[in-house]
Amino acid sequence: MHRSLLTGGSPVLGGVSVDRIRVRGGRGLQGAIAVSGSKNSALPILAATLLVDGPVRLRNVPYLSDVDNMCRILKALGMRVDRHANGDLELEAVDKTVQQAPYELVRTMRASFVVLGAIWARRGQAVVSYPGGCVIGHRPVDLHIKGLTGLGGRIVTRDGYVVLTGPVQGGTVFLGGNYGSTVLGTANVLMAAVLGRGPSILEGVAMEPEIEDLCHFLNACGARIRGIGGHCLVVDGVDNLHGCEWTIIPDRIEAGTFLIGAVMTNSPVTVMGARPEHLLAVVDRLQAAGAQIESGPDFLRNLPTRSGRVAAVDMTTLPYPGFPTDLQAQFMALMAQAKGVSVITEKVYPERFIHAAEMQRLGARIRREGPSAIIEGSDRLTGAPVMASDLRASAGLVLAGLVASGHTDVRRVYHIDRGYERIEQKLQDIGADIERISDG
Ligand code: EPU
Repeated sequence: MHRSLLTGGSPVLGGVSVDRIRVRGGRGLQGAIAVSGSKNSALPILAATLLVDGPVRLRNVPYLSDVDNMCRILKALGMRVDRHANGDLELEAVDKTVQQAPYELVRTMRASFVVLGAIWARRGQAVVSYPGGCVIGHRPVDLHIKGLTGLGGRIVTRDGYVVLTGPVQGGTVFLGGNYGSTVLGTANVLMAAVLGRGPSILEGVAMEPEIEDLCHFLNACGARIRGIGGHCLVVDGVDNLHGCEWTIIPDRIEAGTFLIGAVMTNSPVTVMGARPEHLLAVVDRLQAAGAQIESGPDFLRNLPTRSGRVAAVDMTTLPYPGFPTDLQAQFMALMAQAKGVSVITEKVYPERFIHAAEMQRLGARIRREGPSAIIEGSDRLTGAPVMASDLRASAGLVLAGLVASGHTDVRRVYHIDRGYERIEQKLQDIGADIERISDG
């Protein structure tokens, strides 16, 4: 067994943590809980450093196994990656001849497919493994491919790899799909466009704050992107990018998870470092359910209510600025103990409901109807051993454990370590009865 070098985190066995998290429910929470840097902002920005000539210094990069994985891939692609004592990550391309991202690395994390556009644009050709299947549903990459082809790329599939060649000409591409736009597809195409020979118009792009952060980072490196934050990005290609220092935005999904936990336990909790403007849809649903939420420029606070339990409200996940799919499992945990019946509809990943069956093991009354789940709230959840299927599902199960009587053991904790930095310590610090138990 060894400890992760970059995260300094939990013990891993063959790369997989063998821990479980035990939560004893029924305790109130109190105090301030700090949000870490955004995983989904850090990952594409890390990939974007492939485009840059000279060192890049990134602040507020969370200590997560997904970040470790991305750093491992970047090292294999000829990057120097150093974590400084103060937590900053410094990256610099030292060997710009490597063009191939191997299957063994890409299969560990789908998000690594986002290196495709950057390798192609900076190194002339990219050979990147297709990421393969995913537990949260069908996750094709057709929009990535369409966008890169639209910029002049020639693509063939060889032995499970995408081989992308030809100069980045630039062009007009439309990135909307049946489920809205694509976050990592937008990042992939954008990264190629910034070094394009001609201008590009990217229409129907993802508007998630993580894409905005990527755009601002690229501009700080000398890129010329306009329309940031909107549905159409206009990019004037430049010859090269230079290094910069950049601070990753706070993680809105982690912030939303803590806020939902505070509402579930009816606790006075302040989520520090959160950007309320990134969580408008979430706060809207929580307030509709009867929660009292206060906000300031960099915090969100739950105020306990007299009634304690919230009312059931319907919720539909949508691309940003809609309610994020990455908070659907956590919101389901809340609705499982609300007063009344709610309907949760998944419009981003219609199959992302594996956690529902695990929540049923805690006594939650949940029924699937196509892309929806119908939840009959109950104040009698009881602890049980449960299995995490993905990282957001694990977070939903931990939250359910906070209100279930007895104890809940969440197994396969390696999922949660992909996206939540020291979650059990952070929750412990505000009074939760939660611990990590090592089975190793
Ligand atoms: N889609 C296509 N074709 C494509 C790409 C996507 O049809 O080429 C579909 C997907 O199947 C899905 C929808 O479009 O139905 C949105 O998928 P998107 O491409 O936006 O997802 P992603 O970029 O692969 C990121 C996050 C996910 C998050 C989704 C949606 C990162 C590293 N990942 O994935 O985060 O759920 O956007 O917001 O940014 C997580 O953090 O737990 C996580 C899964």
